[in-house]
Amino acid sequence: MKNFSESIKYIGVDDTDIDLFEGQYVVPAGMAYNSFLIDDEKIAVTDTVDSRKVMEWMAGLQAALAGRKPDYLIVHHLEPDHAGGIAQFVALYPETTLVASAKAFAMLPQFVELPEGTKTLTVKEGDTLSLGKHTLQFITAPMVHWPEVIFSFEQSEKVLFSADAFGKFGIYDADPDDWACEARRYYFNIVGKYGNQVQAVLKKVAPLGVKTICPLHGPVLAENLEYYIGKYNTWSSYAPEDTGVLIAYASIYGHTAKAAKVLAQELEAAGVPKVVVSDLARSDMAEVIEDAFRYDRMVVMAPTYDAGLFPVMEDFLNHLKAKNYSNRKVGIVENGSWAPMAAKKMAEILATLKNVTLCETMVTVKSSLSAESLAALKQLAKELI
Ligand code: FEO
Repeated sequence: MKNFSESIKYIGVDDTDIDLFEGQYVVPAGMAYNSFLIDDEKIAVTDTVDSRKVMEWMAGLQAALAGRKPDYLIVHHLEPDHAGGIAQFVALYPETTLVASAKAFAMLPQFVELPEGTKTLTVKEGDTLSLGKHTLQFITAPMVHWPEVIFSFEQSEKVLFSADAFGKFGIYDADPDDWACEARRYYFNIVGKYGNQVQAVLKKVAPLGVKTICPLHGPVLAENLEYYIGKYNTWSSYAPEDTGVLIAYASIYGHTAKAAKVLAQELEAAGVPKVVVSDLARSDMAEVIEDAFRYDRMVVMAPTYDAGLFPVMEDFLNHLKAKNYSNRKVGIVENGSWAPMAAKKMAEILATLKNVTLCETMVTVKSSLSAESLAALKQLAKELI
């Protein structure tokens, strides 16, 4: 679907040897940095790529230009995974006009030193830029995912350039049929904190009659757009997407892990449609965060450590707090051998979250499961069913 239009050409690149995207996210299927060329009386290029791949991008850009020169570089998002090529672009095409929001131009010198006399065009909500047959209409999208972000809507072909929104981890055409899996992990970990801002921009986009979405990562979306927009609507409203229980646990010697397994069996036996069990010390944290948001219920299970909470669980709950985890039911299971403290610490963090209901039964496992703690665990399972 790269070539969905005669006039709009894909000139993005794939990054298959990056170890961590944004310095923290594993991307086993690589990462795409999308960029497009709109070919009209005036030629516009949308965004650049990460500095790791600028040479490859420039080669593709020059091939697409076939000797012509671009008139505009539209900077939808200034984050370096998209703005790593601005300096080289301006050096090669000094006559080009950079188009971006006022906030982007204010931040730009922090990243790039532009030559004196570089032409710029500051755009705001509703401004348009005619390229000939094509016209770009700008839509501000602050905090989706940085404050300077703009979307643009090409009116003649009804194409939305949506910055990071609707993006996913993975190279351009990796797993095109399974967009939601890596788009969800991307959304909750990278944009998840800004649900209200995503909701606001979705409302602005709704009346436009978008036919194609060109995100900065992942595939161009040109069919079944209600599906993708529906997912974004669910995710950004912090509503659970699926019925199920995430059991996120940490375990030092395996006793809490065993309790997690027993609880999972209880829930499955009672017909809970989906039970996901994740060992926080060994799982991709971003994946567990994704599952926490995906399902309507969660159980957190962790040992006491240094008179507090086992570190990886504290990290997990603080991640959820940072991403505005809300509107879910949560059960707590602690382990402690002489002075259990984990449940209190977990409850303290969960109490700060909006509309998170704690199960009445809080289970304390003293070192290993006993008849008493097993009964409490079964009681917790009943509350979750
Ligand atoms: Fe893909 Fe927020 O950068």
